[in-house]
Amino acid sequence: MNLFKKKDLNKLLSERIEREKTYGFLDLFLLGIGAIIGTGILVLTGIIASTQAGPAVILSFLISAVSAIFIGLCYAEVATSIPNSGSIYGYAWVVLGEFPAHLLGWTMIGVYILSAATVANGWTGYFAALFHDFGINIPAQLLKSHSQGGIVNLPAMLVVLLIAFILTRGSKESKAINNFMVGLKLFILLLFIVVGVFYVKPSNWTPFAPFGSSGVFAGAATAFFAYLGFDTLATTAEEVKDVQKTLPKTIILSVLVSTTLYIVVCLILTGITSYTNLNKPEAMTYVMQLVGQHKVSMIISAGSIIGILAVILAFTLGASNITMAMSRGGFFPNTFSKMNDKSGSPNFSIMCIGLITSLFAGVLDVKALANLANIGSLIAFATLCYIVVKFRKMYPDNIGGFKVPLYPIVPILGIVICAFLILNLDFMSWVSYALWLVIGSLIYFAYSKKHIYN
Ligand code: ALA
Repeated sequence: MNLFKKKDLNKLLSERIEREKTYGFLDLFLLGIGAIIGTGILVLTGIIASTQAGPAVILSFLISAVSAIFIGLCYAEVATSIPNSGSIYGYAWVVLGEFPAHLLGWTMIGVYILSAATVANGWTGYFAALFHDFGINIPAQLLKSHSQGGIVNLPAMLVVLLIAFILTRGSKESKAINNFMVGLKLFILLLFIVVGVFYVKPSNWTPFAPFGSSGVFAGAATAFFAYLGFDTLATTAEEVKDVQKTLPKTIILSVLVSTTLYIVVCLILTGITSYTNLNKPEAMTYVMQLVGQHKVSMIISAGSIIGILAVILAFTLGASNITMAMSRGGFFPNTFSKMNDKSGSPNFSIMCIGLITSLFAGVLDVKALANLANIGSLIAFATLCYIVVKFRKMYPDNIGGFKVPLYPIVPILGIVICAFLILNLDFMSWVSYALWLVIGSLIYFAYSKKHIYN
């Protein structure tokens, strides 16, 4: 039994599906912004500021931005060299072998499920706030999971199922819909900045780091979630025009633009009121209410409700696509890669992912969910940085055109920063991730290893 049997690169490339090159620079940039900006900024900012970092939440966001850029550069090199939609699972199969590939694919499925669940969980806050503005109060017990003092987060569960249902109809994010949603998200963030700046009291920024540097780093580990999504750009490599130039540029630019917006929003949020008041999943609308800007608060709620749906859709689709790709490689049963005749979508995968995501969104607590997604992605991304180093040695002639600058410093720093952020995550994240890997390993030994198509 060889757990590290590698897939031949040329075989993998020859099995690639030739796709139309639809994404130009602007489309891909907007896709990146659409996937990145979501509940990280809308929901976690206030929670990180009040429970972990204080106004120094801006430093937490800066630290995680640096790691996102390093990892993004590594993604760009390997994705331009192996432009397959299987993403990290495919790269790992070529470089590390089938068992690591299985665990990484399984990890990314978990990351995307948990991210979608976290986003849906945060979405509830905005949904309930908007209903409240119209005088309708949803019972609090139906807005929170049991661990948060309620019964279930019903809106989160239903919205995930609705999105999964839409996906099974073959409805996918077209470029026009995505651009509209991204436009809306950017508009509400800019509106918040333009209105909020007039209510900032610099005295609220003192004390700047009330929980010390350990709080700032713990905040950075949580804030990493806000950057998740740049990795989804790598999965579009087959469809990108002039991929060697477009992909690296868009990954870096989307992270830079998001970082700038995140920092400014954090400054305004913690400048309007004391960080101690911000332990709320809908902190942005809360501070607008606080300063009497009720209309702006309503616009932010409504814009968030629509904008955030795009993130849930993208991650649900991402998880089902990896499931489908792994099923094609023999890692999961064929049913998961069976395409529906009418919709042309892997409906069985989508519904399974939708059901699991819905369950997680309804019964777990938002911060725990974000940290679970973070630990999985940070471990996968650290491995990706290692894959870049190993791939260059294994296939020196196969570098796709983009090379990580300052090699091997950037991949090594990527690994170091990921490891550092991982160490700042709480113990429960480790336990849950270990459990996820145990389940993945059981599937591998019980099924995958007998069916893998090498
Ligand atoms: N980065 C995505 C968000 O913040 C997951 O919602």
